[in-house]
Amino acid sequence: MTTLRLTVRSVVREAEGVLGLLLADPAGAALPPWEPGAHLEVTLPSGAVRHYSLCGDPADRSTYRLGVLREPAGRGGSEEVHTSVGEGTVLGVRGPFNRFPLVPAERHLFIAGGIGITPLLPMVRSLPPGSWSLLYGGRSLAAMAYRDELAALPGVTLVPQDTAGLPDLDAALGGLPASTAVYCCGPEGLLRAVEERWPGPLHTERFGAPPAGQESSGGAEGFDGFDVELRRSGRTLRVEPGRTLLDAVREVLPGVAYSCEEGWCGTCETKVLAGTPEHHDSVLGEEEKASGTTMMICVGRSRGARLTLDL
Ligand code: FES
Repeated sequence: MTTLRLTVRSVVREAEGVLGLLLADPAGAALPPWEPGAHLEVTLPSGAVRHYSLCGDPADRSTYRLGVLREPAGRGGSEEVHTSVGEGTVLGVRGPFNRFPLVPAERHLFIAGGIGITPLLPMVRSLPPGSWSLLYGGRSLAAMAYRDELAALPGVTLVPQDTAGLPDLDAALGGLPASTAVYCCGPEGLLRAVEERWPGPLHTERFGAPPAGQESSGGAEGFDGFDVELRRSGRTLRVEPGRTLLDAVREVLPGVAYSCEEGWCGTCETKVLAGTPEHHDSVLGEEEKASGTTMMICVGRSRGARLTLDL
């Protein structure tokens, strides 16, 4: 997939700590189409690669709208957006990708925590009023992006934590018809709380941190080493304990695609041709993991002595 060079056409403050960016082609060309739930992979001027959900109108092919939360304790990408990106900045963009598609259902319930509202905004806009509801929790009203746009829509409940506490998930999920499609996007704690309460179809997207208790790329120590054959490249490498599979692959394939290195963005997904992968990601579903045909090489390893990848 080619990388587009898009210009930041405008920067606005969407809420406390949240900047809204509008990206456009410098020559005014139409942008690739997308559907609600899609995200872009954005290369910042420093070279850092980050993923941001599209939160504008899919019918508008002239701009992409993003919302970026400033996370001072993060890895630096959001700081860079907030401090160094302005009108006229050129960004590298790949995508759109959609790992969080909107499925048809009789009813939809959307649950957003903080900046997790971004992929849900185009979803609710695309559905007929009365067929969905949205529970949106944030630190305070002032910190809740798009609250004014949302307030104009029926079925939206805003829950600012400083005055109203946490969203009442028991009330929202209790008694829902089992056929309701429940979508949740936000921090890990919110996702877990919803997962514990909702036995029906659940669609989630995690923002930022890897799931608690999951190995990140830095936590590979203690695993056994194994060999990995890169079939298309005709190379076999040793992945020593304490190194990630991605690190080993990058030595011979420096252009291999990756981004979060924590198993949640899906960029490094790679086909497995032989061997049994040991998954540590939060991208693949249980069935996909059990099938063993694909894996995230940033956190995944091998159950056996040898793994063969389609690289
Ligand atoms: Fe993000 Fe591997 S780089 S899942």
